[in-house]
Amino acid sequence: MSKITAAITAVGKYLPEYILTNEELETMVDTNDEWITTRTGIKERRILKGENKGSSFLGINAAKDLLQKKELDPKEIDLVIVATATPDMQAASTAAYVASQIGASNAFSFDLESACSSFLFGMSVASRYIESGRYKKVLLIGADKNSSMIDYTDRTTCIIFGDGAGAVLFEPNEEGYGFQDEILRTDGKGREFLKVEAGGSVLPASHETVDNRQHFVKQDGKSVFKNAVFNMSDVCERIMMTNELDNEDISWLVAHQANKRIIEATASRMKLEDEKVMMNIHKYGNTTSATLPLLLNDYEDQLKKGDKLIFTAFGGGFSWGAIYLTWAY
Ligand code: UT7
Repeated sequence: MSKITAAITAVGKYLPEYILTNEELETMVDTNDEWITTRTGIKERRILKGENKGSSFLGINAAKDLLQKKELDPKEIDLVIVATATPDMQAASTAAYVASQIGASNAFSFDLESACSSFLFGMSVASRYIESGRYKKVLLIGADKNSSMIDYTDRTTCIIFGDGAGAVLFEPNEEGYGFQDEILRTDGKGREFLKVEAGGSVLPASHETVDNRQHFVKQDGKSVFKNAVFNMSDVCERIMMTNELDNEDISWLVAHQANKRIIEATASRMKLEDEKVMMNIHKYGNTTSATLPLLLNDYEDQLKKGDKLIFTAFGGGFSWGAIYLTWAY
């Protein structure tokens, strides 16, 4: 019997309506469009407004988009994974709520968190469940309401992040398309450089943590930048080498959208032409777990069966990696 590979067979997305432009940010903090554009490549990002709406709202809508496009009965889904760094609540599973709301009543579900690498690591997990032969339809959702942890008086972070969600369906493939290889890494020394200090078990919420603004994202941008460029380039080069791929063989680089300069540096190390580098950071900023599936949605009509895709991400933890996957439709 031929080995089962785990292929992506459908994609869906959701972006909140509200657009926060660089021009509006200029009225909020001491910044300007020229600085943001040249240093990050971002022009605008989406923000989820309204009471009682968390990452699940984004994820549910992305999943519904996929279900509708694929004309899939949600009862056929075996597993729902929600990759998120901004779960609805600390204790209750966001994925359980999402699965119920979309009608995936025969599925089990769980959240997966590894900062900006959550979706990449989720691709690895989803693929293992499919390859096991036990599960036939795994829905992987990347959803983040980053605006819930951003300090809109801190110009070093508020210009970068946006809200959004993307979803992909993994199914078994018998032609060999889909997941091929991975290199996944973490290094806990990176935790000091990118974090939300309070609200977890180390520093639970208190009046003091609120007064000290410790529930917001803080990052040492320069250190994160250097580590992201070095490590993403490293794993991309290595996955190319181990799979005997050269720049001509690769169809697309699907890289986490944190900073245009980081993506360009990685592509340059891989000797890839600009046309092969998926890019949507200008429209959405850094949507954490949603960047990779949003890219697939935006480029879906340009993808061809057999295309060779390299996915890569870098995030808090530190956490990073590369996945090699061939497109199945
Ligand atoms: O997805 C998770 C992973 N995250 C990342 O990958 C983010 C990685 N880091 C970055 O993308 C970049 O480091 C940033 C975009 C965050 C910052 O860009 P940078 O080129 O590293 O700038 P910098 O922090 O070295 O700051 C340069 C200058 C500073 O002023 P001085 O000290 O030179 O006078 C900053 O105070 O730019 C200033 N600055 C700003 N100016 C205008 C910082 N933020 C802003 C701003 N507008 N928003």
